[in-house]
Amino acid sequence: MTTVDRLFNAAKAAREKAHVPYSRFKVGSAILADDGQIYAGCNVENAAYPSGTCAEAGAIAAMVLGGGTAIQEMLVIGDGPLPCTPCGNCRQRIREFAKPGTPVHVAGLTGVQQSFTLEALLPASFGPENLS
Ligand code: THU
Repeated sequence: MTTVDRLFNAAKAAREKAHVPYSRFKVGSAILADDGQIYAGCNVENAAYPSGTCAEAGAIAAMVLGGGTAIQEMLVIGDGPLPCTPCGNCRQRIREFAKPGTPVHVAGLTGVQQSFTLEALLPASFGPENLS
């Protein structure tokens, strides 16, 4: 199975677990980390709306807890009229653990729709190197 297929399957399964009573918009995400593991997350909404978290944030938290320290490849899956590209906050969250050329795939329920590099999603970004 290809890496993209593994990411797609993990993200799709995670999406099913999403807690989305307010938007009803389920999102899943999966990361291939530097430790070779796949980490997944889903969005978890909250009655206090801004306290909700995105699928990407969940996948990154799972990666950090599991011992991964870098994102090698990532996929986000959502269902809607347009590809579910990561929100601005999540682009910055991904930036913390990825390189400019790290692939970020965006998928619908039947497969990948578009693939980006992190640099394409977040050009001229501010990251850990800026503080060193
Ligand atoms: N959402 C994500 O989980 N990731 C994104 O990149 C875009 C938006 C979630 C947040 C909220 O729970 C729902 O999708 C609707 O915005």
